[in-house]
Parts: sequence; C-alpha cells; structure tokens
Amino acid sequence: MSWIDQRPDDAMDGAFTAVGPEAVRTVEPAVFREAMSRLGAAVHVLTTAGPGGKAGTTATAVCSVSDAPPTLLVCLNRRSQTNPLVVENGVFCVNTLGHDGADIADIFAGRTGVAGGDRFASGEWLTLSTGSPVLASAVIAFDCRIIEVRSVGSHNVFFGAVETVRAGPGGPALVYHDRAYKQV
Ligand SMILES: Cc1cc2nc3c(=O)[nH]c(=O)nc-3n(C[C@H](O)[C@H](O)[C@H](O)COP(=O)(O)O)c2cc1C
Repeated sequence: MSWIDQRPDDAMDGAFTAVGPEAVRTVEPAVFREAMSRLGAAVHVLTTAGPGGKAGTTATAVCSVSDAPPTLLVCLNRRSQTNPLVVENGVFCVNTLGHDGADIADIFAGRTGVAGGDRFASGEWLTLSTGSPVLASAVIAFDCRIIEVRSVGSHNVFFGAVETVRAGPGGPALVYHDRAYKQV
C-alpha cells in the first residue's frame, strides 16, 4: 500500500481529532502532508505590526471567505513566532509574492536563520491602514483587521476583514507545488 492509498481504516494508529462533536478518525499527519504537497498554492508573506511588535511568516494557507463583506482567512501554526503577535495586534497583511519572491519566501519561512523583525531587512516595505508591513513588490496585498479567531488542531484560523488592498507590479506569481517554488 502506498501512502496515497491510505484510508482511515488502513491506519494502524490513525490520528484522532476533536474538532467535531465526537472524535473523528483521520489519516496520519504525514500522509496528509504528502497529499497536500500535490496541491499547488500561491505563496504569501503574512505580516503584522502593532503593540505586540512586528513579525512575518511565509504562508500558503490563505483563502477567500466572503466578498460581502470582503473577508479572507489565514491558518497559522500556534508555534510560529508570528502567531502571538498577530493575536495581540489584531491585524495582519497578506502579501502575495510575485515570480521573483522565492528568496523572501525562504527568509520569512525561517529557512535562512533570520528571525523576528530582522526579516524585514530584505525587500521594500510600506504601510496601509492597519500598520502591518506591506511588501512593495507583492503582486497584491490584503490589509486586514481580525474579526474572528478559531483554534483548530495545531493552527489558529484568523478571519480578517479586508480594509485595504494594494496592487503591486503585475506579472507571474509564485506558487508552491511538490515542495518547490514555481512561477505561473
Ligand atoms: C511555502 C511555504 C508555505 C508555508 N505555509 C504555511 C502556512 O500556511 N501556515 C503556517 O503556519 N506555516 C506555513 N509555513 C511555515 C512557516 O513559514 C514557518 O516556517 C513556520 O511557521 C515557523 O515560523 P516562524 O519561523 O515564523 O516561527 C510555510 C512554509 C513554506 C516554505
């Protein structure tokens, strides 16, 4: 049996999640991560600034929720150093990277060993209405105020009302697929 064939009944030690009213049996987390690697997704840098300080991290778990009112969600691991700052600041900006954004993506994913506010030494940064850092070269930036937070499994799901958008240079965008950056 390959990893792709695994169903809950096949899992010897299936993980359990408690998000539903009753425990639900799932595939193994490693199987889920392998499956998700086949799902290509746009690459964003999620930033925040405010009383809690300034921070940012790379994220693909970003999704449109509603256009009236304009709302999106981001999923952030509670272990990320950015998570408590987003909670305290109550604001974030989703900066969608262009085709040349792989270096910035690696910096904000912690792959270069740079942490905290030092990550902003790369790139040109602006602010819009929430004060969260806005990457000038982002193909699009969504400046958001948090309206709801849900804790699901290992992650916080932040729902953000979109206060302002800024369109940067157009052109190809960066996606992450099969554990590699690609340009579309
Ligand atoms: C392409 C890519 C996408 C990522 N997407 C997410 C994501 O959606 N949510 C998340 O919590 N971490 C995501 N990560 C991991 C974070 O960027 C980061 O490495 C991890 O949360 C540790 O964060 P910290 O260095 O800010 O503490 C992603 C990493 C990469 C390279």
